[in-house]
Amino acid sequence: MRIALLGGTGDIGQGLALRWAYDSNHEIVLGSRDPEKARTKAEEYETELDSLGRDRKVTGFVNEMAADRADVVVLAVPAYHVSDTVEAVTESLNESILVTPAVGMSRDDDGFHYNPPPHGSVAALAAEADLEADIDWDTPVFGDDTDAKETVMQLAADIEGLRPLDAGGLANAAEVESLTPLLINLARENDGLHDLGVKFW
Ligand SMILES: NC(=O)c1ccc[n+]([C@@H]2O[C@H](COP(=O)([O-])OP(=O)(O)OC[C@H]3O[C@@H](n4cnc5c(N)ncnc54)[C@H](OP(=O)(O)O)[C@@H]3O)[C@@H](O)[C@H]2O)c1
Repeated sequence: MRIALLGGTGDIGQGLALRWAYDSNHEIVLGSRDPEKARTKAEEYETELDSLGRDRKVTGFVNEMAADRADVVVLAVPAYHVSDTVEAVTESLNESILVTPAVGMSRDDDGFHYNPPPHGSVAALAAEADLEADIDWDTPVFGDDTDAKETVMQLAADIEGLRPLDAGGLANAAEVESLTPLLINLARENDGLHDLGVKFW
């Protein structure tokens, strides 16, 4: 499957790109507003994968080109730029599945707070950049299109140690997204929890 990671130059995009490239044979394409930045990052990720014994090709393009012919487009950009980014690539989308880990948050002296956009919410998936660290996490996935959700859940399952859980339809988005500021606050305030995730029993 061809996976385009728009904003794949950022932390979450990097984690997802490296994990998918490391654990699966999906074609990984990074998108950026700046094609040169995407190419440079793609080379960096290839070098990192190579150092871990994975000879994998990662390519980088401007977002519109990255989204072109992608089966799945991951919007790994700040929450308040998800809609601008979708608008910028609309003509490239065709039948692509759109998924995003973006969560609206604000930050003050107390930490991070859930701050959803007034019209609703954005969507979910996560990974981590240290490929040698084992993960054993759950990722809730939601959406109204059953087939698209199944595809995204399968892609999440392709990352070793990541268990996708069906969190229902888009109407359940806020419940899932509101977990993110809690996790970040716990990671910031507690030693040894920098890379925490969630596991449901
Ligand atoms: N669900 C979760 O558990 C979870 C956890 C953490 C974060 N997140 C979410 O994941 C998303 C990505 O997080 P991140 O830390 O990787 O974000 P980030 O590093 O701040 O940004 C990711 C990329 O977005 C692009 N970008 C920045 N400003 C933009 C703008 N104005 N318009 C369009 N693109 C822009 C940049 O790429 P270029 O400069 O290359 O275009 C950047 O590298 C965020 O929405 C965050 O809320 C979710």
